[in-house]
Amino acid sequence: MLKLDLSQLAGFLPQGYAVSRQTGLKKAADMLAAGNGPGGDFTGWVALPEQYDREEFARIQAAAERIKKQSQVLVVVGIGGSYLGARAVIELLSSPNYNLKVKDTPDIYFAGNGLSTDALLELIALIGDRDFSVNVISKSGTTTEPAVAFRIFKGMLEQKYGKEGARERIYATTDRARGALKGLADQEGYETFVVPDAVGGRYSVLTAVGLLPIAAAGIDIAALMEGAARAMKELSIPGMDNPAWQYAAARHALYESGKSVELLACYEPSFRFFAEWWKQLYGESEGKEGKGLFPASVEFTADLHSMGQYIQQGQRLMFETVVRFEPKGTFLIPDDPENVDGLNFLSGKPLSFVAEQALRGTILAHVDGGVPNILIRMPQISESSVGYLIYFFEYVCGLSGYLLGVNPFDQPGVEAYKKNMFALLGKPGYEEMKQKLESRL
Ligand code: PA5
Repeated sequence: MLKLDLSQLAGFLPQGYAVSRQTGLKKAADMLAAGNGPGGDFTGWVALPEQYDREEFARIQAAAERIKKQSQVLVVVGIGGSYLGARAVIELLSSPNYNLKVKDTPDIYFAGNGLSTDALLELIALIGDRDFSVNVISKSGTTTEPAVAFRIFKGMLEQKYGKEGARERIYATTDRARGALKGLADQEGYETFVVPDAVGGRYSVLTAVGLLPIAAAGIDIAALMEGAARAMKELSIPGMDNPAWQYAAARHALYESGKSVELLACYEPSFRFFAEWWKQLYGESEGKEGKGLFPASVEFTADLHSMGQYIQQGQRLMFETVVRFEPKGTFLIPDDPENVDGLNFLSGKPLSFVAEQALRGTILAHVDGGVPNILIRMPQISESSVGYLIYFFEYVCGLSGYLLGVNPFDQPGVEAYKKNMFALLGKPGYEEMKQKLESRL
């Protein structure tokens, strides 16, 4: 399914860089499988593609069908790991223009992933007087951004449909037992879905967190899980033939050779939010204790005309990981009998041929410019290939965190801004901190 090409690392890494990491990778893979490494309580995603709650899965599919029937719009409220996976998969498998398409599924808008007044007002105007449902997603149930957004959309639903009607249109995805959202959902009688204890936000796209919005968009979530299950099976085989081990070894060796940025590039505009999901996955998993590659992303060829200059000649701090999908369709470049634009050397050639030469030329140019390249070739974008790629990146992330010597499943740094914000907002219990912060601003 996935083909990893590391041939363009040859001039950058010493021979044997992979073999020298084999013992570390074995240890990392064993810790992921046994759940006994740092953060081992959060390795529930490792076996998830096979060991998930089938009864809940069927409820997710049923809820998605109900949402399709009852609403023209689904508002998905969540942030970070409770947001990016669903958007990534919907955009990659459907389109960034999903909402503009003629379809029998609801428009899907994402809310609660920021605090912009303008964005909120725009979203309310976009919903207009259409029927809508809400899927509120928060593992902790206390994150400020989605909590504020949910209060607003809950109020709108209750005003429009009454309390009883609103209850039929609110779907809460949260912790099995704890948190303010769980309490609210139980009290109000919303249908609830579970973020499993052992799965952290950024690894949760294949739980109800991602699956309900994805299914509501008409995507075959069973096929998505099957793709992930295939990856799980293939990538659990130990040894340096395993592409997950190879990728983890390469990025660790590049990091140790002095590279500090991994640039994820793709030639599909629909990949943009997948890259955002990937950035959270790697950024939150590795970026701690003063360590970790900074995950960045670009969209080719568009960004070759903006970031391309820096990549080619700026500070030599990065390597590139390029994801290339087989195209689904064919488009032949037309002939122009007058050849005014001088492009007839391309007449009759598929556009994908041009893209392929752009990819090959770019790889060589960047390698010549001192940017090592990792190429991931994928078949066509489909539920199955996307499920596979999700699991591949998650698994490599777990391996990479352990190779780096960090806990890839916590995010202590995220708390700092939250505490400051609570204090500055005047949340009870933060009075002393508020005074200290105010004196510094
Ligand atoms: O990956 C993570 O753990 C975070 O990005 C969380 O998903 C994010 O902060 C939202 O948290 P919650 O789902 O508790 O609202």
